[in-house]
Amino acid sequence: MMKSSNNIAISFPAIFRNFLMRKLSLKNYLCLLIYFQIKINNYNAEYSHMSSQNIYILAIESSCDDTSAAILCNDTVLSNIVANQKIHEEFGGVVPELASRAHQQNIVPVVHQALKKANIRKEQLHAIAFTRGPGLMGSLLVGTSFAKSFAYGLNIPLIDVNHMQAHILAHFITEEGFKKPTFPFLGMTISGGHTQIVKVESYFNMEVIGETIDDAVGEAYDKSGKILGFGYPAGPEIDKRAQLGNPKAFLFTKPKVEGLNFSFSGFKTAVLYFIQKEVKMNPNFIAENLNDICASIQYTIIGILIDKLKTATKETGITQIAIGGGVSANSGIRKALKDGEHKFGWTTYVPKFEYTTDNAAMIGIVGYLKYLESDFSKNNVMASSRLKI
Ligand code: KG4
Ligand code: ZN
Repeated sequence: MMKSSNNIAISFPAIFRNFLMRKLSLKNYLCLLIYFQIKINNYNAEYSHMSSQNIYILAIESSCDDTSAAILCNDTVLSNIVANQKIHEEFGGVVPELASRAHQQNIVPVVHQALKKANIRKEQLHAIAFTRGPGLMGSLLVGTSFAKSFAYGLNIPLIDVNHMQAHILAHFITEEGFKKPTFPFLGMTISGGHTQIVKVESYFNMEVIGETIDDAVGEAYDKSGKILGFGYPAGPEIDKRAQLGNPKAFLFTKPKVEGLNFSFSGFKTAVLYFIQKEVKMNPNFIAENLNDICASIQYTIIGILIDKLKTATKETGITQIAIGGGVSANSGIRKALKDGEHKFGWTTYVPKFEYTTDNAAMIGIVGYLKYLESDFSKNNVMASSRLKI
């Protein structure tokens, strides 16, 4: 070991000592710089190796009447293709047998398009995530079988995803202009099949603290819309017209349900009896009052949801609320939540529009989070139409 501070072959402790004592020669100083440069380069090489470990996930959603495939790079969406099934419109609701047939026709082109749009080759994929449930059994089977065989063919892990968890965890997709909730928060899933309030402690520690005992809120929209003569799904049409009408034109009573549970079947019947009574007196009642009827229906439904959220925030002490599911596209609920920020001190999270109705991007984010935990499915995993959170 060299002692001379003038020698280039030096000991670093000696240089440090000299550095601290301000006795450093130019040569030593240069040596020290080179030493740190090498250290920094090594660190960068190591770090960039880690950050270049981009995880590519193909996600498939086929729980109801939308066939969707998405490609995610880590928590960012590269593509999210959704094929809607128009076939159900004329029946006023989803016909399960037609839905599974349409999934069979759509799934290959939809996956192909998702890969193409993301500019990713199938060989680059790290895992395949799919919706295991809840949903229509025939529809789920199409996605499950496709995901299983594709993952098997590519020899990559398979990841099963709970559709309802995905509606909540869609908030963790990185999107410009959208903030992510912090734990704990309340998730409210409002869709055509579900209405739930969920206490979310961490990604995979969720507890349902309230849910519908009969119809889902989306069904309340769709069934009321059917009474008014709208096609399926009626939610968007009611929402559009509601914005042009008087929300207090007609009064519908809110169902009385204990605690945090919901009920919407009585509401739909109330709308039916009201319309029948009015049409008897004036056959043009619907046409003459359509916007006001829609606004009144929407006002009542949103009132029911907000009342329950008020109770939930009081009971849990949690004031962060994140909504998900098709009905979270609704302009009225979005506004009511924003108002709740000022009125009740809530912090609210509303997903980007394309992640509200059923989509594979939300399945992909759960797939990515599970991938990080190496939480993979067994080969014999089965679709489960009544899968719980
Ligand atoms: O989450 P989603 O796509 O499928 C299910 O998992 O059910 O939700 C579909 C539901 C339908 O009932 C549809 O009428 C409703 O979401 N929906 C809306 C709106 N957009 C979709 N309801 C009210 N207002 C909207 N803007
Ligand atoms: Zn859904």
